[in-house]
Formats: sequence, structure tokens, C-alpha cells
Amino acid sequence: MADFQSSQSSQSYRAPKGTYDVVPGAADRDPHLRPEMWAWVESIARDTFRRYNYTEVRMPLFEETRLFVRGVGESSDIVSKEMFTFTDRAGRELSLRPEGTAGVVRSYVEHSLDKLAQPLKLWYVGPMFRYERQQKGRYRQHVQLGAEALGSDDPLMDVEVMALLYDIHQAAGVLEEVIHVNNLGDLATRQSYVPELKAYLDKHRSDLDPDSVARLDTNPLRTFDSKDPGTQALLAEAPSIEDFLTKDASAHFAAVRQGLDALGIPYRVDDRLVRGFDYYTLTVFEAKSPVLGSQDAVGGGGRYNGLVEEIGGPDTPGIGFGSGVERVLMAAGGPSDVPGVDVYFAALSEDARMPALSLAGALRREGVACELDYAGRSAKGQLKQADRSGASWTVVMGEEELASGVAKLRDMSTGEEGKIFISGGHEDILRAVSG
Ligand code: HAM
Repeated sequence: MADFQSSQSSQSYRAPKGTYDVVPGAADRDPHLRPEMWAWVESIARDTFRRYNYTEVRMPLFEETRLFVRGVGESSDIVSKEMFTFTDRAGRELSLRPEGTAGVVRSYVEHSLDKLAQPLKLWYVGPMFRYERQQKGRYRQHVQLGAEALGSDDPLMDVEVMALLYDIHQAAGVLEEVIHVNNLGDLATRQSYVPELKAYLDKHRSDLDPDSVARLDTNPLRTFDSKDPGTQALLAEAPSIEDFLTKDASAHFAAVRQGLDALGIPYRVDDRLVRGFDYYTLTVFEAKSPVLGSQDAVGGGGRYNGLVEEIGGPDTPGIGFGSGVERVLMAAGGPSDVPGVDVYFAALSEDARMPALSLAGALRREGVACELDYAGRSAKGQLKQADRSGASWTVVMGEEELASGVAKLRDMSTGEEGKIFISGGHEDILRAVSG
């Protein structure tokens, strides 16, 4: 028993496969592993969402499994292979959310949000969970920034959603971004196209990869997601959905393209883009950046005009996107300037600690970032730490300064020193810091 306990306690623990920790310490690590990058990219997104008048919403990280089965689709890889599903203590079947749209739509229906002014424009940020094979840019827990606009079938709504995605990416500095756009048609388009596609693929069944053969019977459109070269070659010759679009679907697509042209958004019509969810209708899109390598989608989305009804709500159109924040950070040109601490207080004697604490307290209430020593560092150690912390200013006070009531205020970029009164000195520091 004793042996068992000691071997247990000496075990080391690691973050689960496909997850990562965001911790301080190494500026040369991938950007998504650095704490300061998250605050930065989220503030960019928050500001862009505000400009487009979207409201932030927060949903549970888990939902009833049947919501995803119904919403995302039973035949999708995400539902059939990638969900973290569990039974709770009362026997309920639940799943960690693999994506955000189903939860937002569930909440729209549950709270009768169709009664509010439409379209309802919502955004969210948070972790999504998919049991995928781990590789660069692909995790079992990733963070998405997402938007959903419910209650409008206007093609310019599609344009706004794509422009919003593009603007967030560009504000973050995503390189060489192009939005791939397709139109999957409405129900009538699918009803005429899918049998044609299936008939064509059936003829070549023996040349398809096994996954595509399985999809042929459940959802032939999804064969376009295959990475198999043989299947890809066959698909290049397959009938194109473009030739099957109804008049309405074609007009919708034309208006979307016109809107993208008007805003100068770089895009490419890609008639092989189908995306991995069953809920899409009409417009689908994917923002790609070649700097990401094989996992090149920085974001993706589309229209889902039947989803609200599917989940038990009124017939309501919708469109949205999700964007992987890890990938946004990886595809962005480089780290931005991240603000550090403004003022470091070097208290060189024990008696100086309390006045330093109260000055820092007053400054923090004015919005100035301050740091003090809590590690018992020597005078030399504190000055070194002030330098290392990247502080813009250092206040130095020891016995001498306490006796005279005047401390030193050092400008760390020039090394120049000024003086501040210790009592009420936060006003002087505030003036210096705000330049
Ligand atoms: P999605 O294309 O599956 O769409 O995911 C959106 C984005 O999340 C992807 O383009 C990618 O940047 C990122 N992403 C997805 N899976 C992973 C992963 N395993 N690791 C890292 N990043 C990942 C959706 O989820 C839809 N809900 C988007 C949407 C909203 N459609 C309509 N409204």
C-alpha cells in the first residue's frame, strides 16, 4: 500500500493530448502560447464587433448531445467521430460543444429571441472541443471567435459577416488572406444536384477512398472534403453545383459577390468548397492564409436558413462564422507592441515599503500599471527587476529619500532622473507617465 502511494505521488502530470497551456516565460514561443497575445487579439475582436454593432453572448460549454446530432448533422465528421460525449450522474447524454452555432441557435429558440428587433447580431469567444488528430494548428481544445446574425436573408448580410471576419483578421495582421466563397444552393438546388453528383461518383465507386465511399451513401457533398488525390482527381471532373443553382440562389450569389467587390475584400469563387456541417444553405466561405500550411483555414462559416426551424423555432434565416484564435495568431505577421508595467517601485529600505504601497495604490486607481517587490530583493535586485520588467518608470526610495520626503523618478528609456514628493507624489508620477 505504501509503495502504491509513493509511486502515485511521484507521477508527473501533463496537459491532456491536444491541449496547451498559455503561461508566461518565453517570448520566443508560438504566439498562441503567450498570455499577452490573447488579451491583444480579443481586444481587437471586441472593438471590431462593436463597430459592426454585434452583442456578446455566452453559452454553456456543454449541451445535450442530441442538439449537435440534430443541428450539426449525424453524418458530419464532427458529430460522428470528434465529439467528447459523456453521461452525467443523472444519465443525461451531454457533449462538450464542438462548435458555437448550435448552442446560439438553441438559445435563440429557447428565449424567443425572434421577438427582438431582427436581425439579431451576436458574437462569442470561447473554447470548442473536438477529438481530432493533433497537429500544428489543430487542437482538441481550440478557441473560436464567432458571430451569428439571425433573422435576415439579405445577401448584404452575408457580405457584412464576411467583411467582419476579414476586418478582425486584418486588424490582427493576418497575412495573404483570401476568402474562398461558394454557394451550395437552396433545398431545390440540392435536390437536383446531389443525385447527379451521386450518380457520377457511383460510376467511379471503386476509385474512391473508403471514407468517400461511406459518404456517398450518407452525404455525397462531403466527398469534396476528401484529401485523397485519386478522389480529388475524380471530383475535378464531377458536375459543378454552379450549373444547378436556381434563379434565386444565383441572384443571391451574384449580390454577395457584388458586395464583396464593393468593399474590396479579396475573395475567390471556389465551387468545391462544401464545409463540414449539414446545416449550410446558399453561401459558404472559408478565410485562408497560405502561411498556415496544411491547416490553412483561419475562419469559416456560412448561411443556415433551415437550422432555427430544425431546432424547433420559427422559420428564420441565419448566417455566421467561426475563427480559430490560435490560427489567427499564427497567421498574423508578428507580435504587436504589448503594453507592460508603467511604474516599478524600488523600496530600498523596509520603511519605504509602506509609502511605496500607498503611492502604487493611488496610481492603480488612476489606471496606471504598477509593480512592487514581494520577493525580499536587495536594492540592487529590485533595480535589476525594474529593468527586466520593462517598466517605463522606476520610483526609487530608501532611507535618504524618506528623510527628505523626496523620491527619485527614473525615466527608464533615457535614464534621466526627476524628483517627486513622497506624500501626495502620485499626482507628479501621473503627470510624468501621461507625458
Ligand atoms: P469550423 O470551420 O469548423 O466552423 O471552425 C471555424 C474555425 O475554427 C476554423 O476555420 C479554424 O480556424 C478553427 N478550428 C476548427 N477546428 C479547429 C481545431 N481542431 N484546432 C484549431 N482550430 C480549429 C464552425 O465551427 C462553424 N460553427 C462556423 C459557423 C458559424 N458557421 C456558421 N456560423
